[in-house]
Amino acid sequence: MSSARLLESQTSDEDNEDIERRPHQSHSRSCSNNTTPTHPPHPMVRKGGVARRICLIGGALFLLLVALCYLTLSGDTRLGGSEDSEEGSHHGLDSMNFRPLNETVHICSESYEDRRQFMQDKPQSDYVQLPVIYFVTPTYPRREQIPELTRLAHTLLHIPRLHWLVADDQEKCNDYMDTLLYRFGMPFTHMVSPMPSKFRNEKPAPRGVANRRAALQWIRQHNLTNGILYFGDDDNTYDLRLFSEIRKTQRVSMFPVGLIADYGVSGPVVRKGKVVAFLDSWVAGRRWPVDMAGFAVNLEYMAQYPYVNMPYKPGYEEDLFLRSIGLQMNLIEPRGNNCTEILVWHTQTKSKKLGMVRLESKYLDDRSNLGALLHNLKLMGVTSTTESEGRNALISKNGRENPHSKILS
Ligand code: UGA
Ligand code: MN
Repeated sequence: MSSARLLESQTSDEDNEDIERRPHQSHSRSCSNNTTPTHPPHPMVRKGGVARRICLIGGALFLLLVALCYLTLSGDTRLGGSEDSEEGSHHGLDSMNFRPLNETVHICSESYEDRRQFMQDKPQSDYVQLPVIYFVTPTYPRREQIPELTRLAHTLLHIPRLHWLVADDQEKCNDYMDTLLYRFGMPFTHMVSPMPSKFRNEKPAPRGVANRRAALQWIRQHNLTNGILYFGDDDNTYDLRLFSEIRKTQRVSMFPVGLIADYGVSGPVVRKGKVVAFLDSWVAGRRWPVDMAGFAVNLEYMAQYPYVNMPYKPGYEEDLFLRSIGLQMNLIEPRGNNCTEILVWHTQTKSKKLGMVRLESKYLDDRSNLGALLHNLKLMGVTSTTESEGRNALISKNGRENPHSKILS
């Protein structure tokens, strides 16, 4: 197999089985003693290990062959002269043959209008010179979805010159979400981009990947070469200072993310103002072992890489995306006071199953608020009503349960 073919088969979107699958990230990050960070199961290393065993059995001829292959591969992947090119050639994935993205972008609604009058006590006109931040939020239907988006919106509402790309992991547009996003008054694009069904039952599943890919496609389609890209999940917590920091991004900026796995943090190691390595309790061969929320990319820089991609590889999304845009260590701009401060937290919301209220449907009319309230909660995907399942809904007065007929008739 030629080295080019080897690289292709290891880095294409769907057929890369060589890259060790990371256990469910939230799980792995909290139980990383399952993994052995000091001996990461690197794909290339693993492949090399097998090859070497064959070589030992096969004798010197095979050894020579492997050595030749390795040299060819190194030559192919070295990106010339940078201080970490040796590392890159070891991983052998720098000049990856990614496939260009070819996603269908399904827009539900969008608005380029900024109806906010003041942000951080200043009028909009004070901010017109700033580059736009494209804040990409993958989201998916579950009971916590609308509360999470509401909470996040109330952070983003403070930020001028921000376009919120909300990509929902489902087939159909959620009308309730359209109304909600429009009501916030900031520019947004609401799209749907379901995870391909073949990944749905995988454990771990590539969460938020189809969504981010659709957002990347949207950026491509709009030929955006000006502005900053940031991947902001719907359940993280963002410090307002994050936004002024990422807006300065020239190529790729990085900063620590709090509440990641065993160390409670993941982020760059900085010496003399330069990123030199990474602190993260799960390495697994990742050249860029960073969280999705731990970097931002300038779109002018990204535009130079036609094969920008985020393959469906759970655990490796960040690493492969950053490889697809040719990242090199010396290009990284450390932010957050030289990576000493936490500007974003990997908070995770406890998920619960849908709520259920048992109430006769004849009472869900306008004689009380309950009809409209429960209707709204159903639209939000929070609570459904039933006439038959479980215990009757408790409706009380003066500390005592009352029959529904007494209060609602
Ligand atoms: C961590 C990282 O912080 C994510 O950036 C990364 O995508 C994820 O692991 C992963 O690779 O699995 P974590 O908190 O473990 O995040 O995952 P979630 O918050 O559950 O999901 C990440 C994003 O994808 C969220 O914005 C979520 O709304 C969305 N998501 C999740 C979907 O769109 N579909 C799903 O089925 C699940
Ligand atoms: Mn999360």
